[in-house]
Parts: sequence; structure tokens; C-alpha cells
Amino acid sequence: MNPEKLREDFPILVNGLNGKPVIYFDNACVTLKPRQVIEAMNEYYENFPACHGRSSHKLGLKVTEEYEKSRKTVAEFIRAKKPAEIVFVRNTTEAINLVANSLELKKGDVVVTTDKEHNSNLVPWLFLEKRRGIKRRIVPWPEDGNLDDFTEAVKGATLVSIVHTSNLDGTSLPVKEIVKISHDAGALVLVDGAQSVPHKETDVRKLDVDFLAFSGHKMLGPSGIGCLYGRYELLERMEPFLVGGDTVDDTTYSSCRLSKPPEKFEAGLQNYAGAIGLAAAVKYLKRVGLERVEKHEKTLNRIITESLLQHEQISVIGPEDPDKRGGIFSFTIKGIHPHDISAFLDEENIFIRSGAHCVHSWFNSRGIEGSARASFYLYNTKEEAEKFIEAVEKIMKIFG
Ligand SMILES: Cc1ncc(COP(=O)(O)O)c(C=O)c1O
Repeated sequence: MNPEKLREDFPILVNGLNGKPVIYFDNACVTLKPRQVIEAMNEYYENFPACHGRSSHKLGLKVTEEYEKSRKTVAEFIRAKKPAEIVFVRNTTEAINLVANSLELKKGDVVVTTDKEHNSNLVPWLFLEKRRGIKRRIVPWPEDGNLDDFTEAVKGATLVSIVHTSNLDGTSLPVKEIVKISHDAGALVLVDGAQSVPHKETDVRKLDVDFLAFSGHKMLGPSGIGCLYGRYELLERMEPFLVGGDTVDDTTYSSCRLSKPPEKFEAGLQNYAGAIGLAAAVKYLKRVGLERVEKHEKTLNRIITESLLQHEQISVIGPEDPDKRGGIFSFTIKGIHPHDISAFLDEENIFIRSGAHCVHSWFNSRGIEGSARASFYLYNTKEEAEKFIEAVEKIMKIFG
């Protein structure tokens, strides 16, 4: 993989900002978009800006064709059995909310999560606890790989809803094993793949998950488009939570006949440019190869970890071994607020994120204010990693 060459596809890396190069290390939040994605979206807006499924004129037919081709591209990317198992939504959050609402959980149903979930995989269940009386069980993250707590927690559970790769520290759960334990106990499994699908090969059939949620904007695609993968027979059984145009085949004044999945979950006109852009992003990632992306991120993480952890004021969140943290280096510097670290780096055009990263529950339970998080992707370079190290060391000299 040649990041230098790939960078030529990303306008902001070519152009820089305010006359200076940009070091973009906020990829766990949103990634940059290559021109191939931008062009694919523009093509929709310029050449066939119509709606799918309804109009039978040439433009309408073209949209239907491109939209469904995009669904197929995404389905193949995660090895779904058929395109109809991909529901286009706005993002991971909406995908999780769809499952939370459409599974029609009732009083006494148990949902299992970990203690390191993004708010998007915590708040929907908190609401169902309040509104419908479901029960929640929170399993401590199995740092040492021991799944005894999971085995205990999934007994009698209806749904296990877990993050695959944590946006807080980059560590991943052994999803395949957890799915096996959960299925043996009769529970369904929803995986939040927001941080895993963009960075590693994902095969829903091998993992045997029931649902998988992910967002386009974290994998070179546009914002406002994401996916819910659902096992077809489950999608068939579920009722949509948003209803209206496009979710039904026929209506009378007193009844309606729901469409089949995925249509019944895609209410109203859709984000066609977004789906087309997402497919272009998937093609780009496939061309580069996710195995290479994963390896490259770990290389950068190793360079940064080995240098910065030599300073005793710096602590990393999660294991010290960078291989276990993929493309995320989430850290604190003793005596310096994470927002100050981020603000200082911003002056140098080095963009990272600081705060609780939408995992407030984890930080609050430990009394930690937050962290500074650098996260990498395929266009980042070793030279950028070196500049980042220099800048962090400069911060320690100035503030320390
Ligand atoms: C692990 C994880 N889950 C869920 C989300 C929510 O994603 P979105 O804002 O695209 O819905 C994020 C976003 O950062 C995430 O990192």
C-alpha cells in the first residue's frame, strides 16, 4: 500500500489549509472523502437527480438501477447472502434505533451490552428500559479475553447488542465467540460495526451476526448514509418503525399492505447520492485492501505508541500493545487537559478529537475527564506520525 499515492485522491490533503499541510488524525469520527466518492455523488446530482422506484421515466429508472447496484456492492462487501439484507439508513445510530424499535421488545426482555458502548448503543436501550420495562445487563469488557461474564449475562437474554471495535481505545471484542455463546442461549446479536467495518474484513456469515450497523462517513463515504444489515428472515418478521411512502405496496383508507424488506424500512425518498457515494467508497476500500489498511494503521500506531509511552506523564487508554488497539491512540498527559492538547495541535493543523468520545458512561464511572484521541486511516503517513510525536512533546515542554 502506498499512502503517498492514495493521498493524491483526497483534495484536502493535496490543498492543505491556510497554506499549511493538514494532518488528519480524527478518522474514528469522520474520514476524508476521495475524489472518486465526490465524483460519484456529483454524477447523481448532475446527470440523474430523480427518485427511485416510483417514476418510470429514464431518469427514474437510472436512479433505481444505481441505488440497487449500490446496495449489492455493500452487501458483497460484508458478504451478506443477498442485497435485500441491506437497509439504507442515515447512520449507525439510526440502524441501532431501527432494531431497538422494530424488535418490539417488551417488559422483562433482557438486552445485554458491554460497559464500553458508544452512546448510540446505550441510550436506545435506556429509553426502552424506561418506556417498555426491558431489563439491561452490562458486562465488563473482557480485557483478558475471558468470556465467563458474557456466558452468565446472556442466559435468558433476548438480545446482545455489542460494539465490535471500541471508538474509545480501538480494542475489539471476539464477536464470533460471543455470537456463539449468545445463540446457544437463544439470544439475537446486534453488532455495532461503526469502527470495525471501515478497518477490517467483515463477513457477516462467518461472524454469524443477526444484525450489523455501520456508517458511511467513517469509511471514506458521505455523511447521512449508513446501513443496517439484518438476517432476511428477521427483517421479514420485524415491523418498520418509520412508515409512510415506499414502505407499503398498497393502501385503502383503513388498511395498508407492507412491502418486503428492505423497502418496508426505507420510508420516503432516500439519500440516493449518499448510497451511490458509499458504494464508490466500498469499491475504493476493496481496491486498496482492508488487510493492508489494518496493517498500515497498526504500523503508525506502533511508531507513536513506542515513542510517546516513553514519557511517564503520558498514559494510553486500553492496552499498551498497539496491535490490540488497531488505528486508535487515545491518551492523556498528566496535568494537561485533553481539550488543551487538541487545541494546541489544531494550531499546527494536526486534527484529533478530545473529550469523552460519546462514551461518557465509561469515563464517568472511572472519574476520568476524557482523553485526547488520534485515529488513523489509509492516507496517513509515517512522516505525519513523526510530526505528531514532535508536536505532543512540544506540548509537554510548554505546559509541563
Ligand atoms: C463505536 C461507535 N458506535 C456508534 C457510533 C455512532 O455513529 P453515527 O454517529 O454515524 O451514527 C460511533 C461514532 O463515532 C462509534 O464510534
